[in-house]
Amino acid sequence: MDTDSNEELRAHWDERYRSGQTPWDTGITPPEVQKFWKEYTSPEDGNLALDIGCGTGLNTLFLARQGLFAIGFDLSGQALKLARKRLSPDAATGQERPRVKAMFVQADVSRLPVGSLDAVYALDIGCLHSLPDDRRPAYAQGVIRALRPGGYYHLYVFDRSKSDGPGARGMDDGEVAALFDGKMEILSEERGVSSTQVSRPSRWFLLRMTEK
Ligand SMILES: C[S@@+](CC[C@H](N)C(=O)[O-])C[C@H]1O[C@@H](n2cnc3c(N)ncnc32)[C@H](O)[C@@H]1O
Repeated sequence: MDTDSNEELRAHWDERYRSGQTPWDTGITPPEVQKFWKEYTSPEDGNLALDIGCGTGLNTLFLARQGLFAIGFDLSGQALKLARKRLSPDAATGQERPRVKAMFVQADVSRLPVGSLDAVYALDIGCLHSLPDDRRPAYAQGVIRALRPGGYYHLYVFDRSKSDGPGARGMDDGEVAALFDGKMEILSEERGVSSTQVSRPSRWFLLRMTEK
C-alpha cells in the first residue's frame, strides 16, 4: 500500500539515522562505483554528478573527488546533518575542509527540484527501491530530466519483498526497464546478494541516457 506521506517517510529515515540503524553506512564506496570511475569515463573538471538519496554523503564526496561537482539529495535532515559535517573543517582535530566541489540538498527525490541539469552521472544506492510504488514514475522522470544524453545512471536495488515497509520495499523483475523505457538503455544488470541484509537478492544496474 503506497500511502506514506513525506512526513512519515522523513520520520522513518530520521529515526534510522538518529538511532544508528544504518547498516548500509559501511564507510566504503561500493567496488562497482569505484570500478566505473576507474574504467568508464574521464570526466571534465566540474561536470555534474548527482547522488540520489545520498544519506551521510560518503559517495557524494567520492564523486567530488573524481573532479565532479557532486550534489547529494536526501529527504532526511538527520542524514544531511551528518553529510554536511564531512564538508566542515573539524575544529577539534584541526582537520581541513575537503578541497572538493559538493553540496547537499534536502529534497524528496520523487519530486526532484531540478530542470535539465546536463549531469553526466547519477548514482542511487538503495533509495529508489525504498520509494512507494506510486512515486517511482515521477522519480524516473526527474532522473531523465537531470541527465544529459549519454549520461550514466548507476543503480543498486533489492529485489521485491512483500513484507517490507518503508525501509526497502525492493523492485520487481523488469521494473527498472519499464520505468526508463525509451529513454535509457540498460548496459548491465548484475545479480548478487546484499552484504548488509543477509541473503537479500539485489542487483546493480548501469544505464545510459539515449535521448531526451
Ligand atoms: C538505504 S539508504 C542509502 C543511503 C546512501 N545512498 C548510502 O548508500 O549510504 C536510503 C536513503 O534514501 C533516502 N530516501 C528515502 N526516500 C527518499 C525520498 N523520497 N527522497 C529523498 N531521499 C529519500 C533515505 O533518507 C536514505 O538516506
